[in-house]
Amino acid sequence: MSRLKQRSIDLYNWFEQRLGLGAPMIEAAEHEVPVSTSSWWYVFGSAATVILMLQVMTGILLALVYAPTASHAWSSLEFLDHNVRLGWFLRAMHGWGSDFMVAIVLIHMVQVFMFGAFKFPRELTWIIGVFLLLLTLGMAFTGQVLRFDQDAYWGLGIGASIVSRVPVIGGPLVGLMLGGPIIAGNTLSRFFALHVFVIPGILLALVGLHLWMVIRLGINEWPMPGRLVSRKTYVRDYHRLTEQTGIPFVPDAAWKDAIFAAAIMLAIVACALWFGPFGPTGQPDPTIIETAPKPDFAFLWIYAVLAYLPPALETPVLFIAPVLAIGAMLLLPLVSGEGEKHWSKRPIAVLMVSVIAVTLGVFTHLGTYTPWSPIMNAWTGDAVPAKYLHNRTPLERQGAIVFQNKQCRNCHSIGGSGGLRGPALDTLASHMTEDQIIRQVLQGNGNMPAYGNALSPSETTALVRFLTTLRGDQEPARDASREMVLKSER
Ligand code: HEC
Repeated sequence: MSRLKQRSIDLYNWFEQRLGLGAPMIEAAEHEVPVSTSSWWYVFGSAATVILMLQVMTGILLALVYAPTASHAWSSLEFLDHNVRLGWFLRAMHGWGSDFMVAIVLIHMVQVFMFGAFKFPRELTWIIGVFLLLLTLGMAFTGQVLRFDQDAYWGLGIGASIVSRVPVIGGPLVGLMLGGPIIAGNTLSRFFALHVFVIPGILLALVGLHLWMVIRLGINEWPMPGRLVSRKTYVRDYHRLTEQTGIPFVPDAAWKDAIFAAAIMLAIVACALWFGPFGPTGQPDPTIIETAPKPDFAFLWIYAVLAYLPPALETPVLFIAPVLAIGAMLLLPLVSGEGEKHWSKRPIAVLMVSVIAVTLGVFTHLGTYTPWSPIMNAWTGDAVPAKYLHNRTPLERQGAIVFQNKQCRNCHSIGGSGGLRGPALDTLASHMTEDQIIRQVLQGNGNMPAYGNALSPSETTALVRFLTTLRGDQEPARDASREMVLKSER
């Protein structure tokens, strides 16, 4: 036994002699922190780091099965849910991990703000933290797109239409974001690269920097009302405090972090087991306009804000508000880097946090039930008028049902009721031949979506048979070119 112990010490020393990482790591872990920082209020940063590790691990496992192509992404998620053992659990952990991460990062930020921890000399730690929040939100958004389901498709569509409003360069920006003018395979490749390489790369590097600075500058001491921060004396005072009341971070302060992180992990597991994975909702199908797309939790409030804003205010609010908000967060420690740290002496700070929290909370709540799109199924409840079914073959009647089920009437009226986005179809067959109708339905045209993928061959046949009966009292349309051929053959 002691032989084994000696062997492992030898092995450790072999590596340590070459790497030299062990000593500084132990030193960093055991560095002295003021005893006041061993508090349940100081556990959110480490919990966010632990969730990040969870996201990296579950993300790698997901990438083993996920197919980042427009035609296979959705079905590879269905495959994970139903055909891979515990695949659904993996998806659920990654999805809930994401929601928890956004929440914990936000709570961490509020705590840091309330405790004045952004003040000298930790200004840069805060600024990098702001970027970490933005990157975390970026991960949440790009991750939602990778689901490539109805929610993702429409979420991205709305995102693109927001971007398109940027003055002058809006169009090119959308092209850059989507990899072309429409949401397609290129779009998914782009978001895959962002979600798997670009953003996590920057995120992990900045987390490293953030932690390095936390260790280097020391954990913020518990604020005392009346103890002001001054650039001249702070560092000296902090060192004196650590010398007088210092405890080693590991294990004396870190055990609370460990317990809290474990509790959060358990909560994520519980949510994953109880609620399961997010989506995928329906397959992304631009022809299904009767859908209520909903963004993930972190972005719900934006949609609610947009839904309630008067249209004229949308564009200014969309572009000015985020710039102001992010700018204010970045400038905060530079403007207010000294002075009082304790919340009881910073009433404006407390008021601001409360107002922002309540506003976000209310809009998030509204976001869970605001209808996102106009109600498009207004006419789908109407049956095809009886006179169009009179004296029809069974196939033609079946076509009438397809016509109804595929909600053609959202855009086309017959018998005077229906949408007005496309032309009324009452006398369609008097100016279109069967071939032309088939082409129109399968390939779409102008503002009409293509139904090639959304209709089976038998549905198409029935539908077109039905459409050819719609000609009022008029003669059916004839293909003039074919008649020429027939005549000349005669
Ligand atoms: C999103 C709205 C929309 C939906 C849904 C829709 N269409 Fe259309 N449709 C149009 C528009 C717009 C046109 C006009 C084509 C153009 O823009 O050139 C059109 C044209 C047509 C035409 C040619 C009409 C003509 O007189 O030239 C036919 C036939 C047609 N649609 C059939 C259908 C059928 C069948 C369905 C259901 C499977 C359907 N449409 C669903 C919007 C729609």
